[in-house]
Amino acid sequence: MSALVWISGASAGIGAALAAAVPFPDARVIDISRRGGTAEHLRADLADPADWPLVEQQFTKELAEYDGDRAIFIHNAGAVTPIGPAAGVDPTAYTRAALLNSAAPQVLGAAFLRASAHLKCERHLVMLSSGAAKTAYAGWSSYNAGKAAVDHWVRTVGQEQPADGCRVIAVAPGVVDTAMQSEIRATAESDFPSVARFHDLKRTGALTTPESAATGIWSLLTQDLPNGSRVDLRDLT
Ligand SMILES: NC(=O)c1ccc[n+]([C@@H]2O[C@H](COP(=O)([O-])OP(=O)(O)OC[C@H]3O[C@@H](n4cnc5c(N)ncnc54)[C@H](OP(=O)(O)O)[C@@H]3O)[C@@H](O)[C@H]2O)c1
Repeated sequence: MSALVWISGASAGIGAALAAAVPFPDARVIDISRRGGTAEHLRADLADPADWPLVEQQFTKELAEYDGDRAIFIHNAGAVTPIGPAAGVDPTAYTRAALLNSAAPQVLGAAFLRASAHLKCERHLVMLSSGAAKTAYAGWSSYNAGKAAVDHWVRTVGQEQPADGCRVIAVAPGVVDTAMQSEIRATAESDFPSVARFHDLKRTGALTTPESAATGIWSLLTQDLPNGSRVDLRDLT
């Protein structure tokens, strides 16, 4: 039951909960983030394309002669900031958000598929999506677009995989009580007109926990989903 698992953004939030709940007893878990957490750590700033080859190099090196039971990449790192109208937010921050939420999933996802293509073991590529892929929240233009891109990339790549290929899915975790939700609630209504809804969700206890989201995400690996599926964890309960 051995597994080699990469989780981007496992230093906090959902990613840290995923790393703490890997459902395979003999798993090596590698966090790809800037800060690092409890798992083995590959330091990378995924909003900076100069760091993307570090990730590909590690995939290639570790998978070249991998003979375990499964290879998994959960691309979870993401950021909702900067929040505000597209024309009003800081352009440097906006560029970083577009690179992190939209380009990095495609480039790193393709890198994992290349590095694992020769393997005969189970392979999984899981991308964190969001309800924002479907709802155009004003103030989140780059985030909405990035998550919609993730969904469509997954749909496309899922079709490309052979029957014994990599299982590729996108998962929207619901509204999860992490630092990202704190950042959302700290936004002015002028920048994010829907902010009151997120205050209400917190006040009424409607947020789910990172641990519960992690359990839901891991459970998807044993479900017989069509390749390229997009799953919202809220639809499972
Ligand atoms: N929380 C929610 O309600 C919610 C809802 C829908 C979707 N999601 C998605 O779920 C995923 C995790 O969100 P979360 O709520 O757990 O967020 P979080 O608590 O803010 O954690 C974000 C994680 O992403 C990493 N990250 C951010 N920018 C990065 C960068 N430039 N380079 C490398 N790593 C970076 C962070 O690591 P470092 O800071 O150490 O780099 C951190 O580990 C995201 O893709 C998010 O869009 C969350």
